[in-house]
Amino acid sequence: MMDEKSNRTLDFYNTQAPQYVAETVDLDVSNIRNLFLNHIPEGGHILDLGCGSGRDSRFFLAHGCSITAVDASDELANLASEFIGQPVENLSFQEIDYLEAFDGIWACASLLHCPKSAMGGVMQRMTKALKPNGIIYMSFKYGTDERIDERGRFFNDYTEASMSKLLAEYAELQIVEIFTETKPLRSGFQTWLNVFARKHVK
Ligand SMILES: C[S@@+](CC[C@H](N)C(=O)[O-])C[C@H]1O[C@@H](n2cnc3c(N)ncnc32)[C@H](O)[C@@H]1O
Repeated sequence: MMDEKSNRTLDFYNTQAPQYVAETVDLDVSNIRNLFLNHIPEGGHILDLGCGSGRDSRFFLAHGCSITAVDASDELANLASEFIGQPVENLSFQEIDYLEAFDGIWACASLLHCPKSAMGGVMQRMTKALKPNGIIYMSFKYGTDERIDERGRFFNDYTEASMSKLLAEYAELQIVEIFTETKPLRSGFQTWLNVFARKHVK
């Protein structure tokens, strides 16, 4: 069941879906996508978790990967489905239930909407969904807060220290790399925390 904060966040994406697609469909995340692809075998299967406009699913498909795209906003899921030419699953992070299906999970600026109290369960679901040696990419706004932004969206911010602490709780996940980058966002700049973690084979 979805909590009040998550419902309010999804209300924003559902009511603003076309505007949000227009705002994000051309964002340049090529540096991170290329880093991620270095970990994906040719023709590998990627879960785009919280796919938004479908921008990155479309890129990965054009690159020869297969894609399972998921988004909890039904309006965004419909628009993304048209954009990528295949169905998008209308599911939340808290509901995904895949078993060793993916070479990589791409969660670009999406898990930042997951309440900290639900992150543990979501990390377990993501780990289960990965094949052995699979890679997770996730990004968060840099900070220490749980907060609501000016658009009514809930955010869960992380630093290197708080993310390392979270990942240390999951023995199957090893941090590959955590780094920050500051990029233009709307009228200002945003510092992002980029996280790569691998499901290691015992
Ligand atoms: C900031 S947008 C990022 C979208 C896309 N990954 C990108 O980089 O442009 C956050 C996305 O997460 C989705 N989302 C929010 N809460 C979610 C949840 N509980 N489960 C799945 N997706 C969710 C939103 O609908 C939205 O598409």
